[in-house]
Amino acid sequence: TGMFTLDPGFTSTASCESQITYIDGDEGVLLHRGYPIDQLAEQGDFLEVCYLLLYGELPTKAQKKDFDYRVTHHTMVHEQMQRFFTGFRRDAHPMAIMCGVVGALSAFYHDSTDIADEHQRMVASLRLIAKMPTIAAMAYKYHVGQPFIYPQNDLDYSANFLRMCFAVPCEEYKGNPVLAKAMDKIFILHADHEQNASTSTVRLAGSSGANPFACIAAGIACLWGPAHGGANEAALNMLAEIGHVDRIPEFIARAKDKNDPFRLMGFGHRVYKNYDPRAKIMQKTCHEVLNELGIKDDPLLDVAMELEKIALTDPYFIEKKLYPNIDFYSGITLKALGFPTTMFTVLFALARTVGWIAQWKEMIEDPGQRIGRPRQLYTGSAQRDYTPVDKR
Ligand code: CMC
Repeated sequence: TGMFTLDPGFTSTASCESQITYIDGDEGVLLHRGYPIDQLAEQGDFLEVCYLLLYGELPTKAQKKDFDYRVTHHTMVHEQMQRFFTGFRRDAHPMAIMCGVVGALSAFYHDSTDIADEHQRMVASLRLIAKMPTIAAMAYKYHVGQPFIYPQNDLDYSANFLRMCFAVPCEEYKGNPVLAKAMDKIFILHADHEQNASTSTVRLAGSSGANPFACIAAGIACLWGPAHGGANEAALNMLAEIGHVDRIPEFIARAKDKNDPFRLMGFGHRVYKNYDPRAKIMQKTCHEVLNELGIKDDPLLDVAMELEKIALTDPYFIEKKLYPNIDFYSGITLKALGFPTTMFTVLFALARTVGWIAQWKEMIEDPGQRIGRPRQLYTGSAQRDYTPVDKR
């Protein structure tokens, strides 16, 4: 056996050095390249944040225009990719479709898979950021049985995405700027979160030299789980299951019961032992969306507000420092925007793509980069001799 330190869940091991995102979990602080998340979400737009994550600085006016143009240039996907979608069952989970289709991009865009070529890396990054909304919207359209809607490049990133999801060819589509702005904020809030499970997956996949499309597909697969990106879907399903404020105590009791595997979805975080700063902005955005849509008495929102109140005052949650996380409010907002719960994690993947790429790019451009190869503490049998099957 080797002399290695066992650290299950990597709670005390840094896997890399990074200059992209800073989190102080005790204080509830999240900075991208030094900028607080609330300032970016309230004052910036998603593509600006993409630029910041990728290149380290906010773009000048000219740089922003150029970047927006270059991303927009890549919004279409190869027409033949439609056949990928139609190969899936209609009832396929959109995340299953995402894993497959995004992985397949490497079979369509050969001229941006050579990771040793800086230009190709850049083109792959732009392609992924640009095509993810198109692919996510196609997954949604396929899911609901409606025709695919092509991107419209004179719209901004989030308005274009909402249109690709909710426009139909038979009637005029009127976008709502308040909802598009909310969508944009949701994307900003999900853009990066340092070395979480899916980002670490992307880095590990990339450390072997795999192409960026394959790496992002690996990230999507990891994000799918309910302990990670799948929590927004799980949180909303839980609110629906609770159904009424009267039933909250029953679920709180279950969450506290050591013999019951049930957890309050949307609560707790590996790093934040304080209010997740993103959850606060998400809560505000949620109310903006509900106001805009004139949704006053949403039963799920009532349950959510009451649940939050109880959890923030209950000794169990206080002692374990379990605060609402971003997924707690994003679910209600996305539902109000018109998305089915199965799309929630897809939207997370769409937004997180830039974080994954920025982290992948940082790793590839690090001259000290080596293949990620964790060691283990072997606990199996000692050496023994093979016995033929008829002697066993
Ligand atoms: N409800 C009830 N108890 C909980 C919860 C919860 N949501 N989360 C943690 N605990 C308890 C847990 O039982 C444990 O108690 P004890 O120390 O008595 O055994 C203690 O708190 C510490 O939990 P842990 O599982 O050791 O903490 P972790 O850092 O390994 O897990 C987590 C973090 C986010 C996976 C977990 O809090 C959880 O499962 N939350 C619900 C799912 C969720 O909302 N996930 C989204 C995370 S944020 C966005 C993202 O990453 O995608």
